[in-house]
Amino acid sequence: MTDLHTYQEQYDAYKRLGLKLNIQRGQPSDADFDLSNEMLTIVNEDTLVTPGGIDIRNYPGGVAGLPEARALFATVLDAQPEEMVVWNNASLELMANTLMWAMLRGLKDSPRPWAPDKPKLIVTVPGYDRHFFLLEKLGIDMVTVEMTPDGPDMDAVERLAKNDPAIKGIFFVPTYSNPTGETITDEVAQRLAGMDTAVPDFTIFADDAYRVHHLTDDYPAPPNLLRLCAAAGHPDRVYVYGSTSKMTFAGAGVGFFATSAANVKYITGLMGAQSIGPNKVEQYRHVRFLQLYPGGIPGLMQDHANLLRPKFEAVYRILSQELGNSGLATWTEPKGGYFVSLDTTRPVADRVVALANDAGVSLTPAGATYPYGRDPHNRNIRLAPSRPPVAEVEQAMTVVAACIKLASVEYDGRNP
Ligand SMILES: Cc1ncc(COP(=O)(O)O)c(C=O)c1O
Repeated sequence: MTDLHTYQEQYDAYKRLGLKLNIQRGQPSDADFDLSNEMLTIVNEDTLVTPGGIDIRNYPGGVAGLPEARALFATVLDAQPEEMVVWNNASLELMANTLMWAMLRGLKDSPRPWAPDKPKLIVTVPGYDRHFFLLEKLGIDMVTVEMTPDGPDMDAVERLAKNDPAIKGIFFVPTYSNPTGETITDEVAQRLAGMDTAVPDFTIFADDAYRVHHLTDDYPAPPNLLRLCAAAGHPDRVYVYGSTSKMTFAGAGVGFFATSAANVKYITGLMGAQSIGPNKVEQYRHVRFLQLYPGGIPGLMQDHANLLRPKFEAVYRILSQELGNSGLATWTEPKGGYFVSLDTTRPVADRVVALANDAGVSLTPAGATYPYGRDPHNRNIRLAPSRPPVAEVEQAMTVVAACIKLASVEYDGRNP
C-alpha cells in the first residue's frame, strides 16, 4: 500500500498544476504548417493555366485529377500516373467513396453489389479509429486480426479470406501503421497479393497515409502492393490511399489513390457521376509548391522529420525514465508515422486515460484503437506527440507515466 500512497500523492501533485495538454489526435504543429505557407500565394493570376494547357478556373480537366497532380502523387505511392486518381481534400473521403460505390454497385470484378448482403472486411488491431467508424456507419462488419511487427497476421488473414465468402477485403495501414508504427514486410505483401480468396472481388484497401513520413534517415522502400498484385495475377485487387494532410495542411490538402488503370477507368466512371471533377486550383497549388520546395516532397518530409523526431524522442525518454524497469507498460518506437502505441501490462487503459484527463492531459479515448471502441484487453493507448512543443510532450508523458503507476497499483490492490 506504500506504493499506492506514494503514487496517489504524486498524481495529486500533478493534478494541482492545472495542466491543459493534449496528445490525443495526430495533428501537425504550427511549425509543420508554416513549412507550407507559401502554398497560400503560389497560385495567382499569372498561373491560371497548367503546363498541360488546362485552365484551373474552368470545368474541363478530368475526373481523375490534373495530369500534373497525378504524375506528382504517383511518386508518393510508387505508381504510374495512369494508375492515379487525385481528388479533393481527404483520403478518408476517397476510402468512403470507394466503399460506398462497392456497396451500391460493386467493384470492377464484383458479381453483384456488396449490399444488401452483409459484407465483412478484415481490419487490423490495434488500428485506426476512423476506419472502424467508417465501416460501422456503412454497415460493414469487421473481423479483427492482430497487427504483428511484420504486418497483419497473415495466417489468420489467409484462412479468413479463403473460407468466408462474406469477407470482401482487408482494410489496414501498410506503412508506419496507426497506431503501432509497423510497416508490412515484403513477405506479408506478397502473401496478400497472391493469396486465394473465396470471392473474386476481394480487395486490399491499403491506407498508406504515412508512406513518406519517415522519422529516421535509414528506411527501406516499403513493398509495392500494386506491382505485387499485378505480378501475382491479381492486378485489380488493391487500392492504395494517401494524402497531403501530414505534408502541407491537415484537412486542406489533396487526397489521392493508386489502383490498376482498369480500376481507375471503372471507379472514375462512377465518380464522374458525382462531380465533373475535383478542385483543380487546390491541386495546382500543391503541384507548384511541392515541385518548387527544395528537395521536392522528400525535402519537405525531411524538414517535417526534423520537427517531429525530438517529440518522439521525448516520449521514449520519459517513458524509459519513468517506467523503464517497472514492467507496467510496453511501447513502440516507430521509425515513422505519427503515433506511439502503448500497452499497459494490467487491464487499466481506461483508468489511465480517465486519470490523465482529470489531470488535464487529454489522451485518445481508451478502446479507440479497436472496433466499436472496445479493447478486449483494456490495455492499448495511442499517444500522438506531433502537435505540442517538446516541453509539453515531456510534461504530458510524465503525467501519463504517473497515471499508469497509480492505475496499476490500484488494480493490484483489487486483485492481490
Ligand atoms: C491512417 C490514417 N489515414 C487517414 C488519415 C486522415 O487522412 P485525410 O486527412 O487524408 O483524410 C489519418 C489521420 O490521422 C490517418 O492516421
